[in-house]
Amino acid sequence: MALPLSLIFLLMIHRGSSADWGVKYSHSHICALKDSSVIMSCTYTYPTGQQIVKVFWTKHLGEEHPDLSEDPKYSQRLQYLGDKQQNCTIRLSHVTQKDEHEYYFRFTTHTNKWITVPGVTLTVTDLQVESPERVTEGDSVRLTCKSSCTLTDRATFIWYRNSQPLTERRDTNNELLLQSVRREDAGRYSCALHGHTYISPDVHLNVTYAPKNVSVSISPAGEIVEGDSVTLICSSDSNPPALNFSWFKGGTVVGSGQIYSISKISSDDSKKYKCKSINEHGEKDSDAVTLNIMCELMMRMRISFIGQECLCAARLCCRF
Ligand SMILES: *[C@@H]1O[C@H](CO)[C@@H](O)[C@H](O)[C@H]1NC(C)=O
Ligand SMILES: *[C@@H]1O[C@H](CO)[C@@H](O)[C@H](O)[C@H]1NC(C)=O
Ligand SMILES: *[C@@H]1O[C@H](CO)[C@@H](O)[C@H](O)[C@H]1NC(C)=O
Ligand SMILES: *[C@@H]1O[C@H](CO)[C@@H](O)[C@H](O)[C@H]1NC(C)=O
Repeated sequence: MALPLSLIFLLMIHRGSSADWGVKYSHSHICALKDSSVIMSCTYTYPTGQQIVKVFWTKHLGEEHPDLSEDPKYSQRLQYLGDKQQNCTIRLSHVTQKDEHEYYFRFTTHTNKWITVPGVTLTVTDLQVESPERVTEGDSVRLTCKSSCTLTDRATFIWYRNSQPLTERRDTNNELLLQSVRREDAGRYSCALHGHTYISPDVHLNVTYAPKNVSVSISPAGEIVEGDSVTLICSSDSNPPALNFSWFKGGTVVGSGQIYSISKISSDDSKKYKCKSINEHGEKDSDAVTLNIMCELMMRMRISFIGQECLCAARLCCRF
């Protein structure tokens, strides 16, 4: 790149007419996906009568032009697809950001050496999902699969949610539009290009929603007898989790918090209870539950049997 122009000029016009000497790269810039194979298409011309001695690619201008295929960082990944007549195409596989460089084709004949600048500038991109971190159920959201440069090859985008491909979305457009987001749309999203192994890092989409499925559970389960302690627990499905709960007995508010405790329950507490779960997106009531409280009767009996006498006690319950 820093090579004095005069030097290139000297190289080029050494013999014959310069118009006969040349290298044509079909792309001066290539934007390739990380890990993919890049084909740099190229043709070269020289005056008739010239005999081609050596053809190779290099990334250095200057006195030395090291052959890329002899560079251990490239040799395994570089394949010369061209020939010794006019085709100088190469393929470089498994490209990484370290391969970002300008590359030149160079050939020598029995009398001359040729290199053409500018060469092919390679840029390697990864993919990043751009998405809002959080959306509310019912909103529409647009996810974008971003590359740092415009991919040279026409690409078909594939989207994944929780590593499963969203088969219905296969598009040359790099956007995924989720209209009226549902809770089920929450998850880890990533994107890729059809026919390529590279997959973008995951991005988590958090779908927030008002409480749903609000229910009351009673502890301990089973029969409740007057004087027992009873705990009512309000549970709900909501995102963010509901932290605000209200308790209703009959129709009146009797408490707050996820747990409502009644110690020494009495027949007076035999009512319909429900809870309300509240988060920043809304609120919802549970179905009402009825506490059926049994009263306790103690019966003591003295029983005489063949001269023996025993005392029996029985606990009986009744419904108020
Ligand atoms: C050069 O060779 C490659 C690989 O064999 C081929 O795909 C391409 O069409 C050739 N280009 C020209 C101009 O012949
Ligand atoms: C409501 O919650 C209960 C208990 O957590 C669960 O078994 C049930 O499947 C949920 N119903 C719906 C519609 O989400
Ligand atoms: C989603 O966002 C809410 C609100 O910031 C947060 O409370 C909740 O923990 C997040 N959920 C997940 C699964 O990240
Ligand atoms: C709980 O919700 C009620 C009703 O919306 C509201 O009046 C109260 O301030 C809330 N409490 C907290 C701690 O957010």
